[in-house]
Amino acid sequence: MKFHVLTLFPDMVMQGLMTSITGRAVQQKKIDIDAVNIRDYTQDKHGRVDDYPYGGGAGMLMQAQPVYDACQSVMEKIPQNKKKRVIYVTPQGIPFTQAKARELAAQDELLLLCGHYEGIDERVLEEVVTDYISIGDYVLTGGELAAMVIVDAVARLVPGVLGNEQSALTESFHGELLEHPQYSRPDVWHGKKVPEVLLSGNQKHIDAWKKEQSILRTKERRPDLYARYVRLQECRQLLMK
Ligand code: ADE
Repeated sequence: MKFHVLTLFPDMVMQGLMTSITGRAVQQKKIDIDAVNIRDYTQDKHGRVDDYPYGGGAGMLMQAQPVYDACQSVMEKIPQNKKKRVIYVTPQGIPFTQAKARELAAQDELLLLCGHYEGIDERVLEEVVTDYISIGDYVLTGGELAAMVIVDAVARLVPGVLGNEQSALTESFHGELLEHPQYSRPDVWHGKKVPEVLLSGNQKHIDAWKKEQSILRTKERRPDLYARYVRLQECRQLLMK
């Protein structure tokens, strides 16, 4: 799977993503990440990519021409038969979720467009963007961190990216609940003991404890997810009858 991040700050994106697990995945050729500098495509002789918004308002807007040309330069290199999406990361988008990450992981190539200043001229968005995605109800100074979040969450679903395939399957949100607490050695730290059941060797008891802890944690920290879980259980029970 290939990610193309269109940005005014390619170094920020590459420095962030070429470390740790995503960096290793690139080296192992499980994924590829390419940062495209939108400024390289401006036709302005002073290298400008922004201008004032018509109708007034605070700040500057990224202009259509450099964004369009940067996007086209990537699109031209992608074979017709490849599955691709063009994502604009914006607080005006639909919320990014694990389900959306799974949907995007089924694509061959993803283009992620990062806005800066007050945003991007609407006309170019209309022509190139397939998905508007927000990573949360807060406003960042630019789209780069949001694009990096999406690349990371999608990349870890690509087969072979996580060393331990199992972990992508059992984690929070796959099974509608938050993950249970976890413990490693030593068995006593700062006077706190690891829950006895985890040392018992009885896998049935351990699994039951993990499930119970997941439910308790979800109820306490994410009452919205807990309510959905309860409804889902009720539906499943009805179907079993
Ligand atoms: N750009 C600025 N803020 C953002 C957010 N919350 N999500 C996605 N892109 C953004």
